[in-house]
Amino acid sequence: MSLLVAQELYRFFHVGDEEVKALHGVSLAVEAGEMIALVGPSGSGKTTLLMCLAGLDEPDGGTVRLLDAVMTRRPEIEKTRLRSKHLGVMRQKDNLFSHLTVIENVSLAQSLSGRAVAGGMLSVLGRIGMINRASFLPAQLSGGERARASLAVAMASAPRILLLDEPTGEVDLNTEEAILAILTEFRKHGGAVVVATHNLAVARIATVTLTMKDGKFLND
Ligand SMILES: Nc1ncnc2c1ncn2[C@@H]1O[C@H](COP(=O)(O)OP(=O)(O)OP(=O)(O)O)[C@@H](O)[C@H]1O
Ligand SMILES: [Mg+2]
Repeated sequence: MSLLVAQELYRFFHVGDEEVKALHGVSLAVEAGEMIALVGPSGSGKTTLLMCLAGLDEPDGGTVRLLDAVMTRRPEIEKTRLRSKHLGVMRQKDNLFSHLTVIENVSLAQSLSGRAVAGGMLSVLGRIGMINRASFLPAQLSGGERARASLAVAMASAPRILLLDEPTGEVDLNTEEAILAILTEFRKHGGAVVVATHNLAVARIATVTLTMKDGKFLND
């Protein structure tokens, strides 16, 4: 069974007289062990698709199924429960609670899921070189450190699926390599990753690359 399935997703935004077709009939199945790179120009719909897959945005049409549960058109509280249990989400921005320290952000994600990651929270931070920033607030971190903390939060609950929006946006080369190694190990251990990126190094380690343009996959 696919871990995550999207069928015919549509999402329209209206700003003034303008209608933006952010998603225009997108279907996708995510299998265990897979890393799907979503690429394509700015504004092509990558973030919108990730947010709909995560149940953080509701598509105007189509369905999202997470394992054996339907995520679309479901009460928020049930979507939150499903998301906390199975998904690790890293948004393009604002992924951390600003009034909580790094370690508090990680431990909140873990307690919401009711599950602990092997080796504990410090191991998650240690692997991405953030132990010495554990007690910092997000505003006290650099852009790259914020990205690393966000990844730690996404992985804190030992999810089956990671949905990541530009995880290497502002990081240096060493951190980029560390993040890529973590993601490859995650999928080789049976996890699945869907990652929106403009970074060729990320796309290179993906098992599947899907190019978006104007709210659709080019390959369709
Ligand atoms: N809340 C919103 N209201 C109005 N339009 C929106 C909203 N969110 C997204 N859009 C529009 O939907 C389109 C797709 O946006 P999206 O953020 O999904 O693109 P993207 O592929 O992630 O781009 P980038 O590579 O720059 O991150 C854009 O044209 C954007 O202006
Ligand atoms: Mg985006």
